[in-house]
Amino acid sequence: MSENKEITPKRSVFETRREFIQIGIAAVGAAWLGTLVQSKVFPAEGAVQEAQPVEFPLSELPVGGSKEIVYGGVPTIVLRTAESVKAFSLICTHLGCIVEWQPGQMEFYCPCHDGRFDQFGEVLAGPPPVPLEQFTTRIEADRVIVGDVV
Ligand code: FES
Repeated sequence: MSENKEITPKRSVFETRREFIQIGIAAVGAAWLGTLVQSKVFPAEGAVQEAQPVEFPLSELPVGGSKEIVYGGVPTIVLRTAESVKAFSLICTHLGCIVEWQPGQMEFYCPCHDGRFDQFGEVLAGPPPVPLEQFTTRIEADRVIVGDVV
């Protein structure tokens, strides 16, 4: 009795060449979409430089006072001393928590990991690796302007 052994061809992971191409196109599309989403969710550094300037009356910022604004989508604080007006991002440079301005101590405090910055945004303590981001400011005709004129 002869044994009739059926021979089946070895199959690839992909059924057909068309399936291989479709999966390849889908993978490239997913990678492109991922890059697009990442650039919207985590904009590249420097994106805030394209932000429109924010201005408000100098009378809203007395000497020794502070005012919170949003500049380029970034929570920002503007501080006025007898000598100058400065603006700092309130986003901690460690892991992105919001820092708090503590006028009594003249420090920024990050409650997430006890990060501390001085009134110039320089790191005093904790894990933040670099100073707070600072934005340009100027006073024109009794108005405070944060950010460069575009
Ligand atoms: S996020 Fe501010 S110290 Fe960690």
